[in-house]
Parts: sequence; C-alpha cells; structure tokens
Amino acid sequence: MNKQPDRIIIFDTTLRDGEQSPGATLNVDEKLTIATALARLGVDIIEAGFPYASPGDFEAVQKIAEAVGIEGGPTICGLARATQQDIKAAAEALKPAAKKRIHTFLATSDIHLEHKLKKTRQEVLQIVPEMVAYAKSLVEDVEFSPEDAGRSDPEFLYQVLESAIAAGATTVNIPDTVGYLTPSEFGALIKGIKDNVPNIDRAIISVHGHNDLGLAVANFLEAVKNGARQLECTINGIGERAGNAAMEELVMALHVRRQYFNPFLGRPADSTEPLTNINTKEIYRTSRLVSNLTGMMVQPNKAIVGANAFAHESGIHQDGVLKHKLTYEIMDAESIGLTNNQIVLGKLSGRNAFRTRLKELGFELSETDLNKAFLRFKEVADKKKEITDWDLEAIVNDEINTA
Ligand code: KIV
Ligand code: ZN
Repeated sequence: MNKQPDRIIIFDTTLRDGEQSPGATLNVDEKLTIATALARLGVDIIEAGFPYASPGDFEAVQKIAEAVGIEGGPTICGLARATQQDIKAAAEALKPAAKKRIHTFLATSDIHLEHKLKKTRQEVLQIVPEMVAYAKSLVEDVEFSPEDAGRSDPEFLYQVLESAIAAGATTVNIPDTVGYLTPSEFGALIKGIKDNVPNIDRAIISVHGHNDLGLAVANFLEAVKNGARQLECTINGIGERAGNAAMEELVMALHVRRQYFNPFLGRPADSTEPLTNINTKEIYRTSRLVSNLTGMMVQPNKAIVGANAFAHESGIHQDGVLKHKLTYEIMDAESIGLTNNQIVLGKLSGRNAFRTRLKELGFELSETDLNKAFLRFKEVADKKKEITDWDLEAIVNDEINTA
C-alpha cells in the first residue's frame, strides 16, 4: 500500500502542456535551460515532453534526462498515448534519468470515445491495463490519466482507474481537460474516486486542469482538500487555450494559507512545515525565464508574478503599506525572490555580471549583441541608479530584437 504523502507533490508540465500554447515553441537548448531552472526551483517531477511526437521532443527529453535527471534531482517524465510505440519511445528517451516516469493516457468521456477515438468503453477497459502493464515492464514509476475525466461518467471512471492501478499505475491523474468543472464539482469528483475505487490507496491521486473558465487553481485547491496529493501545473499558467493551472499561484496559496490547508493533509493546523518542496524565492526569476524564452508575456495584473502584483498605486494604499506592510500585503515580495532580483545591477556593474543576469533571464547573446546591449546598459545606468529586470529586458528587446 502506498502511504499518501503529507505534502503536495509538484509536477511541472511547462515543457509539455505549457509548450502546447499557441506560438510557444522552444528549442532543445531552451528546454534544457528551463528544466535546469525547474530543478533549482525544487519541482518534484518535470514532464519534459512527448518523445514520440517529434525527433526534437525525443532529443529534448533525452537531454533533460541526462543533464537534469541526475541522482538527487527531480524525476523526469515523458508523455505517451496508450500505445506500444509511444510508450517504447518514452522509455527510450528517459533511459539516462536516475528517476523516470512514463505518463500514459487514454480518454474516458463518451464525447472523446465516440468522436475522437471511435472506441467503446469495453475497449478502453481492455487497453488501459494492457498499456499500463507494458509501461510498468519498462519503468517502475507509471502514471495513468483518463483524459477528459471531468466529463466522464464517474462509475466508468472508477472502473478504469481500478484497472490501471491493478496493472501497476503508481499515480492516477484526474484531468479536467477542457476546464469545465467548478471547484465543488472537482472536489466531489476526487472524493468520489477515493470512496469508490477499491485499490485507490495503492496510488497517489494527482490533478490536472485547464483554465478555460479561470477556475483551474481554485479547482486544484478543492481537490487537495479532498485527497489529491500531486498537482500538475505550469510556470505562468501557460498551456493549451487559456492555459494550465499556474504553479506560482498554487504554491503561494499553499504557502500563505498553510495553516488552513494543514488539517486536510493530516497535520496540526499550526504546523509551519512547508507544504511543497518549492523554494519560493526562485519563483520570480523562473517566471521571467519562461516568459522570455517562450515569448509569452505575463499580464501586469497576474497574481504573484505580474509587474503590478506587489505595486501600490493609490495614496491610501501607499500610506497604509508605509505604516505597516500587512495593511495591503498578504505576502512579502521577497518570498518569491522579487526584491533581490528586482534591483540587480547599477552603473558600476561589470560586463560579466551583466552577461550572467541576462543568461538567468533567458537571453543568450552573441559577443557583438552583448557589447551593444552593455553600452546601452551603461547609458541607462548613468541616468537611473538602479536597473531592474524589466529594464534589462527592455534594453535587450530595444537594442537587439528590434535592431
Ligand atoms: O489536459 C489533459 O487532459 C492532458 C492529459 C494528457 C493529461 O494534458
Ligand atoms: Zn492538459
């Protein structure tokens, strides 16, 4: 029997579902840079890609498995449809990783069965255990997802999950693929699974959700209250259509409100133990890196990492915060690494510090471009004592990307 963990496992899918955002393609080196940042951030599992989907994805998963999936590092995961060729490709790409997981999926909603897969429920009940068992013959750690679980018949879903666990799935992931559910419905779905899947204690319950109605994060928090212990999310909430649940929002909600969540994880309410392994101080710079490399801007009013998330515009708010921060702030900017990172360089900073900071923000410049940007930086630094990350991004975008 698998003891349910008393903390929340963070499964990052920025490099798989996140990369499915329209226009957000990443090359192998960029994926490697992001995977390195995710490991530094402290995510437990990195879903590095979909190896069968393209040679580029195969190579990226393999390189990440080799360079980031080292002893003591995160588990590296590859996605696979419930077919032998997909599962085999995932196992092959993941070989170099110290800890590896195959994530295989098959839809269970009637809409998907009838219109997309042209399969019967009976066929699904046959394929799922067969393919989970096949994945299990290649790696120890297997995750199964019934795609579109949110719109599936719960009784059928219970049967499919039971068969996946019996065949060796160690994590069962419940996707709200089209972001359709409301928080109370998602909570009830997880509770239903806990109460009705006889062997559920042998697996970890995970959740995956999209933000079509802007409810993904709220849905996950309700799922945690009902027994989910793994959250699948992306940096800045990037992903298909309106995106996936945003990691920074989930992690900070669990961090700031941990006394509220503690009892749901079987801890004393006043426990100060963190609920995730995430080093929250790495959140801000990871967010900037992902935004710069994917070209997906973060909206200014985005929770946690938006440019205005810690800004106070009105006189009343400014006055309040100056008197006592807690009047209008529920968390410290420093807790996401903002203050340290915001003011990073000044007019006395050297070329090396400049290059290093740009690299951390996702900009790898040629020597010529670096020289151009550095000259511009010195001009700006002469006028403006403190240079922020936003200034640095503006310098690169003005001097290089639009030149
Ligand atoms: O949204 C979804 O259902 C997925 C699955 C592959 C887990 O991304
Ligand atoms: Zn998804």
